[in-house]
Amino acid sequence: MTATTTAAAPAGAPSPERFRPEYHYSAERNWLNDPNGLVFVNGTYHLFYQHNPFGSEWGNMSWGHATSPDLLQWQEQPVAILCDDQEAIFSGSAVFDEHNTSGLGTTGNPPLVAIYTSAYSDASPLAGRQAQSLAYSLDEGRTWTKYSGNPVLDRASADFRDPKVFWYDGTAGSYWVMVAVEAVQREVVLYKSTDLMAWEYLSTFGPANATGGVWECPDLFELPIDGKREAMKWVLVVNLSPGGIAGGSGGQYFVGEFDGVKFRSESTVTEGLQTDDSRMREYSWLDWGRDYYAAVSFSNVPDGRRIMIGWMSNWNYSAQTPSEGWRNSMSLPREVTLTRQNGALMLRQHAVDPFNGPGFRNFQRGPQPLASGAVELVGAPGEVARIDAEIEPGRATRVGLLLKAGDGEQTVLSYDVAEGVLRLDRRESGNMGFHEAFPSIESVAVPLENGRLRLQVYLDRCSIEVFAHDGRATITDLVFPSESSTGVGIFAEGEGARLLALNIKGH
Ligand code: FRU
Repeated sequence: MTATTTAAAPAGAPSPERFRPEYHYSAERNWLNDPNGLVFVNGTYHLFYQHNPFGSEWGNMSWGHATSPDLLQWQEQPVAILCDDQEAIFSGSAVFDEHNTSGLGTTGNPPLVAIYTSAYSDASPLAGRQAQSLAYSLDEGRTWTKYSGNPVLDRASADFRDPKVFWYDGTAGSYWVMVAVEAVQREVVLYKSTDLMAWEYLSTFGPANATGGVWECPDLFELPIDGKREAMKWVLVVNLSPGGIAGGSGGQYFVGEFDGVKFRSESTVTEGLQTDDSRMREYSWLDWGRDYYAAVSFSNVPDGRRIMIGWMSNWNYSAQTPSEGWRNSMSLPREVTLTRQNGALMLRQHAVDPFNGPGFRNFQRGPQPLASGAVELVGAPGEVARIDAEIEPGRATRVGLLLKAGDGEQTVLSYDVAEGVLRLDRRESGNMGFHEAFPSIESVAVPLENGRLRLQVYLDRCSIEVFAHDGRATITDLVFPSESSTGVGIFAEGEGARLLALNIKGH
């Protein structure tokens, strides 16, 4: 692990700040990947994350740290847990150990405990292994101490990582549960503990559904069905890379029961390692785009709300995206709920809305007919904005929005009526030359509701997050348009479509 310094942007290159997201979290400087240790304590949301404090490429993995009162305004904090010559600090979670079960604090000052993966380097006696370790903070996350008895859980494995820990309180008892992965085996392994230090094996889940890449960053939580607390189900999140639905990194989930020992999926389509990917679209995906990975949820959020954040990139090209000095950002935080749709249970996602406050321009159209063809929405804010659109395609064959449009550039969000498929096409989105896997079309099947398509789209400087039909399907993609490509357009192919409502807020 050598410290590298960040190279300055070459003369004449576009400003490295041009793509800096306005409302998505990015580190002031240097590399960022997975969200880690998401926890709410005492009115503050803590976002820790995989971070290289010494360069804008992956390496020297440590936990960066940011805090927020509202999940939108983030304040960067000093690096929380730093790598050393023996170990890199890989992904994991954090819990508020309110009753000081670990003994790492006191009852008067209970600790925040981070459970992370020690990825041991050659200098360590455990070289080549990945095992789970603890660090704790007695000052609400400002400073961290590694537990002297680390690692606390070692399976002598080279790919045992990404522990997510939560407090289980159910028919089987009350204890901490850890879900982690044996990444290469495509297995989620579950353990339990009463003190976060001694862990007892519970069970293994997988391989199942998508297995085209290593399994990483799992999560397990309980949610009511359609808000009714008398009918709860458990959701097991499994990120994987490659092998995601849009290519490269992606996140799948399973819905079922957890009895305190074993997770039983009720949404498994295929079991075991898959050699063909013909059933990929039948699996449940957190997002159908290319840039929503390693998504996990906050712990300790009041009222049982479940809020997830994903890393807005893809291991296919994350090291090459056009930014200098800083690299990669987080998705918008998303509240997830469970809903029944045509008999099947699925997640719905709602972004925490950065456009709720004052200070934005408003642009409105509709209701009005949409003639066949494309029209530019002159004057609509289109660089940093939220678009809410409701379209009735009628007899038209395709309808949609043109985003980040400019001279020869556009990202096309379209709905094919006959197929019932929503697509986000970034093949003309701007700078794509940094990686051959970048130009792409993502797609998801979404039936019209009462003959209508409802879209909510969040635009930031280099990202597009689409939420269709109240978050029943989402598509998240990065784009790197020219500075002048801020146009918004609307189109229909064929006559008879209607724009029922269009609201754009932003600048
Ligand atoms: C996921 C991941 C994790 C690992 C971390 C290392 O993106 O590969 O499995 O802990 O990143 O940075």
